[in-house]
Amino acid sequence: MDDAESYADPDGYFDEPIAEKYDESSAGMFASDVVDPAVDVLAGLADGGRALELAIGTGRIALPLARRGVAVHGVDMSRAMVNRLRAKPGGDAIGVTIGDFATTKVDGTFSVAYLVFNTIMNLTSQAEQVACFRNVADHLEPGGTFVVEVGVPDLRRLPPGQNVRPFHTSATKWSFDVYDVATQAMSSNYVEVVDGRGSFWSVPFRYVWPAELDLMAQLAGLRLRDRWDGWTRNPFTSESEQHVSVWEKC
Ligand SMILES: C[S@@+](CC[C@H](N)C(=O)[O-])C[C@H]1O[C@@H](n2cnc3c(N)ncnc32)[C@H](O)[C@@H]1O
Repeated sequence: MDDAESYADPDGYFDEPIAEKYDESSAGMFASDVVDPAVDVLAGLADGGRALELAIGTGRIALPLARRGVAVHGVDMSRAMVNRLRAKPGGDAIGVTIGDFATTKVDGTFSVAYLVFNTIMNLTSQAEQVACFRNVADHLEPGGTFVVEVGVPDLRRLPPGQNVRPFHTSATKWSFDVYDVATQAMSSNYVEVVDGRGSFWSVPFRYVWPAELDLMAQLAGLRLRDRWDGWTRNPFTSESEQHVSVWEKC
């Protein structure tokens, strides 16, 4: 499927064939040592209030958070992904609004909003990422928090002149990121051979720097409260490969 075709799909890049395999292909991200620390942080920030998950997907974080007694509402553009959430135990108790999380409005306000697993980068322009922060700010109670989990752009791994970084190679599967440092556009690309037949999946992203996110937060009336290396709250350093950032509504 080329970019134009997949963009035209109302489910975006997470259409039926991708949704069908999502939990299996992201199995490592469903492990309890990955999920539990995230749920601990988010339940603490919810502090008895409501939580809004942007890009709720199949409920990897929302379901265990709801099991902790937090009222969770989600937004996602992919009906195929949300159908998987609905089919899981407890999934039908979670409200979901279908739409673009940069602009979609939902009823009520929230103690915490969160956007995990690098999904801020699925917004492929700076304007959309800024809109997302403003949209979240509109949904937060005073003192409420917005949490983003995203990788630090991997540019230090690119030798001069190179714009491709492989991140998985095996006998039947090759995955690589392609960077355009002029525009901050990137894509993750997956080539796989199954039963002698090749398939190709490519998802466009816009990589974004921590300081740039802080400026987006500032534009939206939020200020940085914490930035960690991950959900276990280790300090963020110059060697960190990802960050979990928490901004609060001023
Ligand atoms: C990598 S999955 C993450 C799902 C879930 N948060 C998790 O951690 O497993 C990305 C999700 O973002 C959704 N998505 C991507 N761009 C979106 C947008 N602009 N508006 C709404 N949903 C979007 C996709 O449909 C998909 O469900």
